[in-house]
Amino acid sequence: MAQYARGSAVAVIRLRNPPVNALSRAVLQALEDGLKKADADPSVKAVMICGENGKFSAGADIRGFSAPKRLGGALGPIVSLIESSEKPVVAAIEGVALGGGLEVALGCHYRVAHVKARMGLPEVTLGLLPGAEGTQRLPRLIGVPAALDMITTGKHIPATEALKLGLVDEIVEENTIEAAIRLANKVIGQPLGPRRLSLKPVPKVPNMEAFLDEALAKVKRQARGCLAPELCFQAVRAATRSPFAEGVRRERELFQVLLSSGQAQALQYAFFAERAVRRWATPGGASWSSAAPQPVRRAAVIGLGTMGRGIVTSLVKANIPLVALEQDLENLNKGRKAVMLLLEREAMKMEGGAQVLDFHNPARLQFTVDFDLLRDVDLVIEAVFENMALKKEIFHKLSKICKPGALLCTNTSALNIDEIASATNRPQQVIGTHFFSPAHVMRLLEIIYGRHTSPTAIATAMQLATALKKVGVVVGNCFGFVGNRMMFPYVQQAVFLLEEGSRPDAVDQVLEDFGFKIGPFRMSDLAGLDVGWRSRKDQGLTGPSLPAGTPARQRHGQRYSPLPDLLCERGRFGQKTGKGWYLYEKAGGRTATPDPWLLNFLSQYRDTHGIRTRFIDQEEILERCLFSLINEGFAILAEGIASGPEHLDVIYINGYGWPKHRGGPMFYASTVGLPRVLAKLQKYSEAHPDVPGLQPSAFLKKLAAVGNPPLKEWMSYLSQQSSKL
Ligand code: 3HC
Ligand code: NAI
Repeated sequence: MAQYARGSAVAVIRLRNPPVNALSRAVLQALEDGLKKADADPSVKAVMICGENGKFSAGADIRGFSAPKRLGGALGPIVSLIESSEKPVVAAIEGVALGGGLEVALGCHYRVAHVKARMGLPEVTLGLLPGAEGTQRLPRLIGVPAALDMITTGKHIPATEALKLGLVDEIVEENTIEAAIRLANKVIGQPLGPRRLSLKPVPKVPNMEAFLDEALAKVKRQARGCLAPELCFQAVRAATRSPFAEGVRRERELFQVLLSSGQAQALQYAFFAERAVRRWATPGGASWSSAAPQPVRRAAVIGLGTMGRGIVTSLVKANIPLVALEQDLENLNKGRKAVMLLLEREAMKMEGGAQVLDFHNPARLQFTVDFDLLRDVDLVIEAVFENMALKKEIFHKLSKICKPGALLCTNTSALNIDEIASATNRPQQVIGTHFFSPAHVMRLLEIIYGRHTSPTAIATAMQLATALKKVGVVVGNCFGFVGNRMMFPYVQQAVFLLEEGSRPDAVDQVLEDFGFKIGPFRMSDLAGLDVGWRSRKDQGLTGPSLPAGTPARQRHGQRYSPLPDLLCERGRFGQKTGKGWYLYEKAGGRTATPDPWLLNFLSQYRDTHGIRTRFIDQEEILERCLFSLINEGFAILAEGIASGPEHLDVIYINGYGWPKHRGGPMFYASTVGLPRVLAKLQKYSEAHPDVPGLQPSAFLKKLAAVGNPPLKEWMSYLSQQSSKL
């Protein structure tokens, strides 16, 4: 609600809807009532609008967009009402003024912000555009280039930048409310015409049309299939071409298009999913509500290879003092150089730079080959080679050296957490922390609890994720956990499609058109084909430990493609060797071109194995890759490895480049319709009976049979199912 108070000539309207003062229908009504009351009261000479609890407002109540009586459209007229007030209205911006919150402030005649406040129009990230006249007022206030940037990216800007842009009139370090009241008193009686943004012309840019063409091309390039950025652009362009009222009409039309688009629903689902996964629970009954984290005052990272370097960088950025350990001096020096380079680059991006990060200070970042220095750390993250024997050896050592309460984390991609924990004297303090490469950039942290992992250990790992500004997702222990386990059938299908007649670039193109940042073959070349090869050798699927007489295209009675192994045997490891599924300009090159050698090799391979080449259309490529991944997701849910489909979706969006505007794989399945996913899997599985990944999971079948319930009800069918067992 909004609270109205009048103590002097300045009436105060306080937006109140904890925790972020979202503009629900009730808040809007109270705001309107407050404005009318102030208008009607002759003793009131000015109005100040602020938010409760140090936050102005995070904008429209996002849940209201999916309510039967939708919120969209209700706020614009209230912003106009503020602007048309005959008494000056001042916004006192503390905390955040986002989306509709900032649009309310733009309707005010003056804006005072606290120095620590952040402002932005992040609607684009929810698949929308600022629909309360923000696309028309902001360009009039700060000019088209800056407004376009804010509106099409949704970025939050600090108050200091807002002041430079002219978005706010004043910033204060102390009491924003008092400063706003002071300003309101000062401007009583001054003409309001020049302060009404709707009356201002849009500032000219030399060669506006050429500027807009270039801006549109950039927006389209970055949107990769997401509608909202382009429609945001169109709304701002309308401001440059039409009078205010017409621009507002155009904004409303475009807002309605987006509001009813599936993409807005997907992006809003993703917003809430990311918040829902913070409330973790395990089948054993541990949960976020009862478990308390332990403090991490000092940490350690073991192994400074690809992953360790990024993890160290993340910890330094989070201001956690740490020890970085390598196996020998040569690797230590290599790792230290690489870490320092990463940190220098990060520091350059930050205000305050290297001094803020303080990474040259050995009390904050110490490099060593001596395990003894790990005695007093609160948490260790191991990131050595993916080898069970080595990891067990390290964990055994750690359990002897580290203090009793220290948490021992392993950054494994797929290995069994329980087996690693068995090498220690404290399995309750062993947990998987699966970072994604590059670890200082990627937001996902998959947190894997083992059979004995304590709730405190899980809570501490989740707290670490927050400190590192990552999204922590708690999952159970199985080979590949959630993310990689779902990835296996997807990549497997991609390779099978090559065997049957497709090409790497054709498969990649279909998945990139769907919205993935990078298709499976480009991804495999980037990550290095040797990584999977080593793992398959360890599993006895290829290499010297493969029993003689094993059929080339079969393992344990299931279809297997030796294609990736054959490439590795020829030294084709991907980008690092200049050749993989594609050809690169040089070893370490990044420009992939289709390789005639590979196409010829594929054709000979098909001849050798008597495979009839067939044309495979885009639909089949997409469905076989995505539906097999989704199918594995249903199996994961049924096994209790993750506590809900949101977890899988958050993992895929933040760790695997799944297009956010499609909401994640499980949300996507719900939009396709589970009966359709099931029917397609059944069809492909009949055509390929030796591929278990295509056989529909029992849980998917169950959900389709009970009538395709909405995603948020899926898990209730699982408990009904298991309670019957
Ligand atoms: N509507 C409804 N609920 C919201 C909300 C909103 N606009 N913004 C945040 N919340 C909820 C969150 O879901 C969360 O709920 P939970 O505790 O039940 O999980 C709670 O408020 C706290 O949010 P966070 O956990 O995200 O808190 P943080 O402190 O980390 O972040 C924030 C605060 C920066 C404000 C962040 O919540 C945020 O970015 N919110 C969304 C802002 C936004 O996109 N606004 C535009 C809305 S659309 C609009 O205004 C349309 C208009 O143009 C017509
Ligand atoms: P890497 O080969 O780049 O680095 C491993 C490092 O560990 C090397 O620098 C090596 O010298 C060091 N090391 C080996 N034995 C050691 C010991 N006894 N003591 C101290 N240091 C030792 O490997 P990478 O890619 O960083 O992978 C590390 C772990 O992270 C693996 O378990 C891997 O599966 C996992 N992972 C890798 C990802 C990737 O994209 N590379 C992604 C997610 C997880």
